[in-house]
Amino acid sequence: MKILVTDQMGAEHELEGLEGWRVMEVIRDWGLNIKAECGGACSCATCHVFVAEEWLDRLSPRTDEEEDMLDTVPDVRETSRLSCQILMSEAIDGLAVTLAPSAA
Ligand code: FES
Repeated sequence: MKILVTDQMGAEHELEGLEGWRVMEVIRDWGLNIKAECGGACSCATCHVFVAEEWLDRLSPRTDEEEDMLDTVPDVRETSRLSCQILMSEAIDGLAVTLAPSAA
């Protein structure tokens, strides 16, 4: 399955990942500009992405922990998510996200 990622320079990348992988892991493993300092533990917010509006409803809602971490980033938006908290699945095959400046 695939995700479509726009990086901080505006370049688009179509990335392959497997069911159950974290979206953050796919982005990191393909070498894009994402720090993901805590490795997916929901405690750094350096995996911050903006989700394309049409995909927002298909994701499970933010947890309290995710909300708390997003409160710490300067560029948070309505569409902000932590990409380590989104798991790849059929339901979101083709998910489109943009890497936030604060993820770099
Ligand atoms: Fe640290 Fe996602 S990798 S919160």
